[in-house]
Amino acid sequence: MLMKTVQSIVDTRLLCRLQRYQGNNVGLVPTMGFLHEGHIRLVRQARRDNDFLVVSIFVNPTQFSPSEDFSTYPRNFEQDQSLLADEGVDLIFCPSTEEMYSSENSTFVEVTGQLTTNLCAISRPHFFCGVASVVAKLFNIIDPHRAYFGQKDAQQLAVIKRMVRDLNFDIEIVSVPIVRDDDGLAKSSRNAYLNPDQRKSSTVLFRALQHAEMLIIDGERNSGRILAEMEKVIQATEYARIDYIDIVCTNSFESQEYINGEVLIAVAVWIADTRLIDNIQIDLSNLTS
Ligand code: PAJ
Repeated sequence: MLMKTVQSIVDTRLLCRLQRYQGNNVGLVPTMGFLHEGHIRLVRQARRDNDFLVVSIFVNPTQFSPSEDFSTYPRNFEQDQSLLADEGVDLIFCPSTEEMYSSENSTFVEVTGQLTTNLCAISRPHFFCGVASVVAKLFNIIDPHRAYFGQKDAQQLAVIKRMVRDLNFDIEIVSVPIVRDDDGLAKSSRNAYLNPDQRKSSTVLFRALQHAEMLIIDGERNSGRILAEMEKVIQATEYARIDYIDIVCTNSFESQEYINGEVLIAVAVWIADTRLIDNIQIDLSNLTS
C-alpha cells in the first residue's frame, strides 16, 4: 500500500475507521518527528504487529512550558517521510497546531497522584498534562488497537498506561526497550543540540546508571548511598548539571529508601543547555543468582 500523508483529522479518522470496518488491526506510533533509531524501533515492532500502521508527527505545544524549546525543537519532515516510507508505514498523521487545538480549546486530561509528582514532573510541571491530553486526542482520532511507547520515557509510559486504564480506552499499550548509541547515550531528537564536546559529556547519564547497577550487583541496597555515588560521577563531568536522580518503585513511582523488588533508576541531566533523560530498570530477583 502506498503511504499517505494526511493533515486533516476528519480524513485520518475516516481512513482508520475504514480499516477497522474491514477487519484490520490498526497500530499507532505517536511521535514529535525528527525521527531516529529509537522511533524506528517502535515503528518496526508496530509494523510487525498490525495490518494498518499510523505514525503521528506533531510537535505538541501543550507539553512545553513557555521557557522551553517548542519553537527550536528540531524538525525535518521530508527526512521523516522518507524514513517512514522505507519502513512500510501506511499513514502519517501530521496535523497543524490549529487543526489539533482550536483557539477555544479548554479541555485537558490530567493524571494525578504520585505518578505525576516526582521525577520529570518537578521541573516540567505542565508536561504530563500536555502529553496525556494530546495522546488522548490521538487515540480518539485514530482509535488504534495498539499504541507503542518507548521505555526511554518511562514516566510518560506509566502515565499513558494509567490514563488508558482510568478512561477505559480499549487500546493495548506496548512498551519498547531503549535504543542507544554504541557509547550508551540513549537516542533522542534533542541529541542534535549537542556540540562534539557536549556529546562526549552526554555519556555520563548511562555511565552513572551503570555505576548504580554495579553497586547494586555488589550488594548495596541503600538508595541514598547509590545516589551519592551517581552524583559524584555526574558532577565530575564537564557541562553536566543534575536536574534529578532518583530510585523509584516501577509501579508507584515512589522514591525508595532501600532497594527491594523492581526499581527504576532515573536521571535527568542538563548538558550545557540541553536536558537529557535516561533510566534503567533493575529487578532484584534477576540479580540474585
Ligand atoms: P518523541 O520524543 O518524539 O518520542 C516518541 C516515542 O519514541 C516515545 O514513545 C519515546 O519514548 C520513544 N523513544 C524516543 N527515544 C527512544 C529511544 N532511544 N529508545 C526507545 N524509544 C524511544 O515522546 C514523545 O515524542 C511525545 O511526548 C508524544 C508521546 C509523541 C506526545 O506528544
